[in-house]
Amino acid sequence: MNIKQLLAAKTQAAMIKVGLPADTNTAVTQSTKVEFGDYQINGAMAAAKLLKTNPRALAQQLVDVLELADIADKVEIAGPGFINVTLKPDWLATQLQQAVADPRLGVSANTAPQTVVVDYSAPNLAKEMHVGHLRSTIIGDAVVRALEFWGDTVIRQNHMGDWGTQFGMLIAHLEDKLAAGVDLETVALADLEDFYREAKKRFDDEAGFADKSRDYVVKLQGGDAHCQKLWQLFIDTSVKHSEEVYRTLNVTLGHDHIKPESAYNPMLQPIVDDLKARGIAVEDQGALVVFLHELADKEGNPSPFIIQKTGGGFLYATTDLAACQYRSHELNVDRIIIFTDARQALHFKQVELVARKAGLLRAETAYEHCPFGTMMGEDGKPFKTRTGGTVKLAELLEEAVVRAEAVVKGKSTELSAEEIAEVARKVGIGAVKFADLSKNRTSDYIFSWDAMLSFEGATAPYLQYAYTRVSSILRRAGISDSFSATLQLAELQEKQLALKVLQFEETLQQVMKDAQPNLLCNYLYELASQYMSFYEACPILKEGIEPALRDSRLMLSIMVAKLLAKGLDLLGIDVMERM
Ligand code: ARG
Repeated sequence: MNIKQLLAAKTQAAMIKVGLPADTNTAVTQSTKVEFGDYQINGAMAAAKLLKTNPRALAQQLVDVLELADIADKVEIAGPGFINVTLKPDWLATQLQQAVADPRLGVSANTAPQTVVVDYSAPNLAKEMHVGHLRSTIIGDAVVRALEFWGDTVIRQNHMGDWGTQFGMLIAHLEDKLAAGVDLETVALADLEDFYREAKKRFDDEAGFADKSRDYVVKLQGGDAHCQKLWQLFIDTSVKHSEEVYRTLNVTLGHDHIKPESAYNPMLQPIVDDLKARGIAVEDQGALVVFLHELADKEGNPSPFIIQKTGGGFLYATTDLAACQYRSHELNVDRIIIFTDARQALHFKQVELVARKAGLLRAETAYEHCPFGTMMGEDGKPFKTRTGGTVKLAELLEEAVVRAEAVVKGKSTELSAEEIAEVARKVGIGAVKFADLSKNRTSDYIFSWDAMLSFEGATAPYLQYAYTRVSSILRRAGISDSFSATLQLAELQEKQLALKVLQFEETLQQVMKDAQPNLLCNYLYELASQYMSFYEACPILKEGIEPALRDSRLMLSIMVAKLLAKGLDLLGIDVMERM
């Protein structure tokens, strides 16, 4: 049980004692300022409103019966009825002593493990991955790692777009090339992006080509062997490309996690037929549509959700209904989390409504679309190349490593060329990832090389550097892996640092609940900053320092090093011993 949960439980007991219902919101939070103690219990205010009594008087009643003598030094009422709790250093030291001996770093056991599908990355194939896919890929991967560390069973699903109408266009273009004598091998190795552009140009400009493309889509989706063979060629090439990007990005997505749109093809017709038979979907101008009154506009017009086009074609939406059924009924999961950009918010609202109506999603399965904002250039417009094109992810990551190398070279003198290259890779990739992960997921953010590669502020280089500093202290102390000592928290900085260390689980809980890795980024930044203040105020290896005190401080340092490494690992960012 973490501190917040412990205080909530104690508050709940006190609330029951003073006659409040057991489900009253305790509203326990970490204090944002030292003046407010370490935690605040804010539930008295809302509860007083409910009882129509004076909130300060109710807060006093609660304080009178709260059993905090063992854990708190001070319990004070402030303002209209806040209860500020200051924890005892000795109690914190005991808690920390247990955490340092724990391979889970003090994170308690998951007593109600869930099975969770995380749908992330999901590039549209036959195009190279561009920066738009960065966010889904790395935010999703951070959440996956957190859930797995906590002890949930995660099923990664890369819902790759391999079934859309663009494939008809590509196959039509390829057929013409083959007819003109180009051999398949040459096409397979060529730049997919160029190929796509050529085909798209013909689709837009050339008479008859669009119709031909549409015919190919129907053939492909109908299982035509020749079309499927050509289609497979595009798929293999672009999957290979994506997998290279995943490796560079240090994300845990592998080949086995690909569950593309095409995999749901056999499920589509039966689902559509069923929805039609039950009157959930109705025919409208040749198409099959579910009209959603829950999402009606101001004039009362229901929101249309098309599940089959005129002519019989299925859509992205139909596939998502099939995915609901597969995940909820076959995989039997407790929770589905999907990461895409915010522009798809309406789509997923519709999918959930339809899927629940049709029983494709069981009531026991939570369905969470987690949207994210757009990555902007320094000009405040969506991030583009200088000439206005989309930025290829692979090229962006190469540039990150080159830039990081210049930064690392400017700093260090001791490393060999080989070591510098390795550090530059970790810093460059880490910087791009941390800059993205540390922003509030739902807002747009500005991509800035200078900001993300800075050694000041909340950046990967700052945290990686903090880690090397702690490591160097531990190296100089010459202690072994089995080192252990009794913790004492005498100075304020020691106590504050210990408290931060013990709040890791609380952060992790929030990250998993809201799918917000930025909270972990903040936490790590605060942890590193507090370590720096501690280090300045509390000498460790200074001449004449009492051995018991030195050992206690070394113990704290070990814990911080472990937490920094673990926390960054959950974000998919590597640390190094020296830089
Ligand atoms: N391929 C889609 C895109 O690039 C994202 C797919 C997300 N997952 C889903 N189940 N629809 O926008």
